[in-house]
Amino acid sequence: MKVFQNLVRRLLALVIALFSLMLIVLFGIIFYERSEPLPEEIIVDWDAEILVLNNPVVDNEVKEGFLLLNASSQYMGPLNKDPKQRYSGNNLSCTNCHLNGGTMSGAASWIGIVDRFPQFGGRANKQGTLVERINGCMERSMNGKAIPEDATQMKAMIAYMNWLDKGIPKLNTKNFKGYPKIEAPTFAVDMEKGKSIYTIECIVCHGQNGEGVRYNDTKKGYQYPPLWGSDTYNDGAGMNRVLTAAAFIKNNMPYLQASWENPKLSDEEAYHVAGYINSFPRPKKANKELDYPDKKLKPVSTPYGPWTDNFSSDQHKYGPFPPIIEFYKERFNLIKSK
Ligand code: HEC
Ligand code: HEC
Repeated sequence: MKVFQNLVRRLLALVIALFSLMLIVLFGIIFYERSEPLPEEIIVDWDAEILVLNNPVVDNEVKEGFLLLNASSQYMGPLNKDPKQRYSGNNLSCTNCHLNGGTMSGAASWIGIVDRFPQFGGRANKQGTLVERINGCMERSMNGKAIPEDATQMKAMIAYMNWLDKGIPKLNTKNFKGYPKIEAPTFAVDMEKGKSIYTIECIVCHGQNGEGVRYNDTKKGYQYPPLWGSDTYNDGAGMNRVLTAAAFIKNNMPYLQASWENPKLSDEEAYHVAGYINSFPRPKKANKELDYPDKKLKPVSTPYGPWTDNFSSDQHKYGPFPPIIEFYKERFNLIKSK
């Protein structure tokens, strides 16, 4: 009888021990999952050193792509020692407009870009590839020449854009293509207002004459990029359209003070200052009259002709744009926003 009682007691102890162990394992699993969220739920700040350049899991080709995009002047522009490696014509970097390595929402982010191409583009009036879109910015925003599709530079830039889609932890809660649009004001750009906004909000970084600020290290490009003059985007660039520039400025400038979630300037202020910076001379793109073979697809604030309407070139450059937008809606049933 005593032996039997002992056996029962031991069995009971064993069951309790096993049960406790199960509980510990169960809590362990729950606790572990709670303290270590799934990788795609981690939202990190953009830091090129940590995420790209010193990240051991990132391919060299992706790193090279990042350098081309982020220090373009050194790697594929006027500061490259080998003339054969020079494609961009000014000392800007792609990421001067596509902020934070092309990951910033509201600054024409490259997240998802690979899947968005091929895409119809009115400027050439055909389905365009990502290579052609990049070269659009090369020939206009970078005032340079097209990079061949099979060049290592082009492949590296696209490898980086591919990696943005697949390799990078979640950076922004929202992502959309292009710029959040602004409401086109019903009046023309006021140069005096533009000048005064520029003086208060922009001059400290971009300079009295829009010339920007170079790095002390002459091997590098700009700390604050130029907005007009000979070393910036040319007159065929998207940024030379007042409505496009205003949308960029409202969502991104003054630098580090404004974001798409929390802009500093109003639509109207961004519009006046965009008109002001685009009123100064800049490099000229050749053969612009060939852009938009189907002229009615030309964005309303494209400042160079020919157009399919009778509005003046001044109105295409400085507005007011609502009458032009209305004309295309009534005449061609086209909805235009830039
Ligand atoms: C605190 C400094 C600072 C201020 C103030 C500032 N910017 Fe910028 N701006 C920058 C920097 C830096 C970049 C490039 C961003 C990058 O490379 O990440 C830039 C980029 C730009 C660009 C695109 C690149 C180019 O050269 O065309 C435009 C356009 C621009 N700024 C316009 C403005 C306007 C207009 C204002 C005033 C409303 C303004 N910025 C205020 C620092 C500034
Ligand atoms: C002066 C500013 C500027 C610079 C510099 C610049 N871009 Fe752009 N980029 C733009 C603008 C403006 C757009 C059109 C955005 C819009 O209207 O939605 C654009 C669009 C693009 C797009 C298409 C984005 C989309 O969502 O469809 C790609 C890709 C691109 N740029 C790549 C580049 C590359 C690569 C470089 C450097 C070789 C570069 N850009 C340099 C201003 C610039």
